[in-house]
Amino acid sequence: MPEKNEFTAEGRNKDGKFTLKLRNVSSSEARQWRILSTDLLNQKFDPSHGKNLKDHVLDEEEIVLQIKKAQAESDIWLFIIDPTNKHDVPELRVEGGTIVGSCQLYWEGDTDGCHISCIIHHRFLRNGYARAALGAAIDYAFYTPHMKQETVILETMKTNAPFRGLMESLQLKDRETPGSYWAQADSPIESVMYTFGEVRWEQAKRDAANMK
Ligand SMILES: CC(C)(COP(=O)(O)OP(=O)(O)OC[C@H]1O[C@@H](n2cnc3c(N)ncnc32)[C@H](O)[C@@H]1OP(=O)(O)O)[C@@H](O)C(=O)NCCC(=O)NCCS
Repeated sequence: MPEKNEFTAEGRNKDGKFTLKLRNVSSSEARQWRILSTDLLNQKFDPSHGKNLKDHVLDEEEIVLQIKKAQAESDIWLFIIDPTNKHDVPELRVEGGTIVGSCQLYWEGDTDGCHISCIIHHRFLRNGYARAALGAAIDYAFYTPHMKQETVILETMKTNAPFRGLMESLQLKDRETPGSYWAQADSPIESVMYTFGEVRWEQAKRDAANMK
């Protein structure tokens, strides 16, 4: 029986404090997952190994299969949900709020650690949602009893200025090294990766708190 993964993320933006909820995507939510993963405005830095994006886009039935496969393989697909009613985006409304993004925790056979990725839907950018959600997901990977990961790895295209800015704001810029993931997939795309353990993560959180 797959673990139920559910946790909250606390953050602050120009409107004050906020709380987001992260929880597993269910296979009945393929439509919402598809909206996040097919909107071109969310996909400027999609890890499609340089292939044409339209060849990479899945229909809902394929997404249902992928969600079930992820569950079977213990990969963790999460929606990031704003539980307030302030967003008027009907296609992203679910019980309990509005989906503002997604987060995935997964394991690559050839790398040693828990990979975490994050997308915020383009309508909700620059609200501090990624910083809060990613921070909570990293805590979850390190400290949740059924997770207890030693190493977390975040990777993106070298040209992904928003994500690299996000890493800088999380005080992880010095952990940046040339990425390996896409290079191994015979891709012309250059990537960067951020690899760290619990001690370095705690340092990053202290540094970020001192910046406020
Ligand atoms: C990268 C991404 C997740 C950031 O999401 P977000 O919710 O807008 O980020 P936040 O609001 O939490 O930003 C936190 C900090 O990151 C930095 N940042 C975020 N977007 C940035 C941008 N476009 N340019 C430069 N810095 C940026 C800033 O320091 C920002 O703090 P500030 O807004 O107070 O200046 C989002 O742009 C996205 O989903 N991109 C597409 C998917 C993707 O590329 N994912 C990464 C690969 S896994």
